Amino acid sequence: MRVLSGIQPTGRPHWGNYFGAIAQYIDLQREHDGFYFIADLHALTTIRDADTLRQNTLDAALDLLALGLDPSRATLFVQSAVPEVTELTWLLMTGTPMGLLERCHAYKEKKAKGLLADAGLFTYPVLMAADILAYDSQLVPVGQDQVQHIEVCRDIAGSFNHQFGDTFVLPKAQTLAHGAKVPGTDGQKMSKSYDNTLPLFGNVKAIRKQIMRIVTDSRPMEDPKEPEDDHLFQLYRLFVGAAETEAMAATYRRGGFGYGEIKKAVAEASESFFADARERRSDLEQNLDHVHATLADGARRAREVAGQVVGRAKAACGLTSA
Ligand code: ADP
Ligand code: TRP
Repeated sequence: MRVLSGIQPTGRPHWGNYFGAIAQYIDLQREHDGFYFIADLHALTTIRDADTLRQNTLDAALDLLALGLDPSRATLFVQSAVPEVTELTWLLMTGTPMGLLERCHAYKEKKAKGLLADAGLFTYPVLMAADILAYDSQLVPVGQDQVQHIEVCRDIAGSFNHQFGDTFVLPKAQTLAHGAKVPGTDGQKMSKSYDNTLPLFGNVKAIRKQIMRIVTDSRPMEDPKEPEDDHLFQLYRLFVGAAETEAMAATYRRGGFGYGEIKKAVAEASESFFADARERRSDLEQNLDHVHATLADGARRAREVAGQVVGRAKAACGLTSA
């Protein structure tokens, strides 16, 4: 089955991104034909600095490869390296009702805040539909916030098929139940927008300091506590197996511990969890030619597929001979 997803290169990935999205992509590559891309065209709607965009795009590739995305199993590429996708965006745009896009949340929220939105943000879901349809994608793993866009993609594909004959495969969204909401250092959902993130990579000492600053309550040390209600516990369990999770839960229920010890346990568990990825990332940094070659190879494979699908769509709507 063809599985596809895109990641915007808008900053360094955090624990929420990993457990909420990236881990799932990496899992799916084992059993499916995975296509994963770095959505630099989408990032242009927010990043307006050339060096930042270039650096973030490369960083995203290093992150994914370091975290276990295996180019011998999955196809990894940069969105803009497949121009067929932008060509397809126009084909789809001509049949997309304005009202459908006006209901999409990224545009709607910006407008509600009284901010100026550009045409790129408005038509963002059409580009996303092209991303998905260009590769005959069947399954699209995404976070909850992207489900609406997959619905839009299905609508657009359905009306094209209806008008011009069966051309596109209708994709299904897949959202993650596990790790659906990783808490940040202040206990609310971890997010760049709340400035409460813990990064996957970077200086270990600095990350440890951030962990030690995680906000906790001020109940007396000896009180028993319910682990499920505590965000430190929720973070700890991401990194350890069932036995350690149970042992930690028992500590909470017994009481008589300090949050400092738990933070130390979270720091140690997360450091060992990401140790291999960290090492792979620094190896990759020394070997950027290899990373660029991997992306070039991914783009070649992706273009092969997109070329066929977009060719099919062009013939269907009369741009080329049938
Ligand atoms: P941010 O909220 O930091 O801007 P993004 O919106 O770029 O993160 O999210 C990228 C992916 O990571 C999405 O699929 C999203 O669902 C997932 N994700 C982000 N934060 C979390 C979180 N705290 N818990 C679970 N998943 C998350
Ligand atoms: N819009 C997605 C996000 O912000 C990224 C994305 C772009 C994507 N194109 C896609 C995800 C196609 C899945 C399929 O996270």
